[in-house]
Amino acid sequence: MVIEMANLLEVKDLKKYFPVRSGMPGFGQKWLKAVDRVSFTIAPGETLGLVGESGCGKTTVGRSILRLTKPTGGRVFFRGTELTALNGRKLRPFRPKMQIVFQDPYSSLNPRMIVLDLVGEGLQGVNPQKKKDLVVAVLERVGLSPEILYHYPHEFSGGQRQRIAIARAIVLQPELLVCDEAVSALDVSIQAQIINLLIKLRQEMKIAYLFISHDLAVVKHISHRVAVMYLGQIMEIAPTGRLFANPLHPYTKALLAAVPVPDPEFKRERLLLSGEARRGTDMDEGCRFAPRCPYAENRCHREEPPLVAVGDGRQVKCFLVKSK
Ligand SMILES: Nc1ncnc2c1ncn2[C@@H]1O[C@H](COP(=O)(O)OP(=O)(O)O)[C@@H](O)[C@H]1O
Ligand SMILES: [Mg+2]
Repeated sequence: MVIEMANLLEVKDLKKYFPVRSGMPGFGQKWLKAVDRVSFTIAPGETLGLVGESGCGKTTVGRSILRLTKPTGGRVFFRGTELTALNGRKLRPFRPKMQIVFQDPYSSLNPRMIVLDLVGEGLQGVNPQKKKDLVVAVLERVGLSPEILYHYPHEFSGGQRQRIAIARAIVLQPELLVCDEAVSALDVSIQAQIINLLIKLRQEMKIAYLFISHDLAVVKHISHRVAVMYLGQIMEIAPTGRLFANPLHPYTKALLAAVPVPDPEFKRERLLLSGEARRGTDMDEGCRFAPRCPYAENRCHREEPPLVAVGDGRQVKCFLVKSK
């Protein structure tokens, strides 16, 4: 009997700490908690958006899941198998199942390789004719002509290069595609085309996405659910419609510029600037957002709120949002 796993991906208490020079010898090693106890799940075919300001740890989450970097702690399960318990050779069968598309197709595509080899690079044990057939089919899928097979990446526009990068990722028929700012470098009209392509591929191939972006508008369009990150932690996760209609966490409210915040002092601009004061080093206690939060109480500065379910498929990490 085949047991269908409810979750394609399960991330539990993921941590990635980077060593920081303390500047004072003898004062011990300090750690930048780039990712600090991050937990979420992605169902097969689901798109989870991951948003937050630059530097909050989004890329590090993606890289840790794909094991492009080794997590400091926590567990990652793919279809029920704990990837974080595997190394090297044992991890290899999972690699094709999880692919990534980066922000910059200019640097992520080898300029010395023709499209045929770029897109077909990951195909193992297939003869040249079969490889060509598979590459042509996948190019078609992403809206590119087979005529480009023998051309080099520099001959294409940014949007076309990103299509090539997507073709390269999906030729292996992944179940999970991490899109790390995959449309952020593109013009708005081209962004929409690539987003629509990703939505089409999701429907055709049942691929799940971890869709990382600092741009809320882009995330809103493609995601089933959205996780909001702040300084290495998830502050809120909710189905997309509910998050945008009614953000619960004070940080989410601040991020959604359209949502008025009652305190006139609490300007979005000020909020974005003052956050740098608190980095995710090991000195902190309390809620990481407390220093910038207009609603923070004494408790928020001393104690860290847990991420708790508040009903409607939502989770919020804030004492001031009542759980159901
Ligand atoms: N290899 C690294 N060494 C040290 N610090 C890093 C490294 N990679 C990322 N960081 C730091 O971790 C934090 C999160 O970075 P990142 O995951 O790139 O954020 P985001 O993708 O949200 O912009 C940042 O403070 C960044 O400077
Ligand atoms: Mg990033």
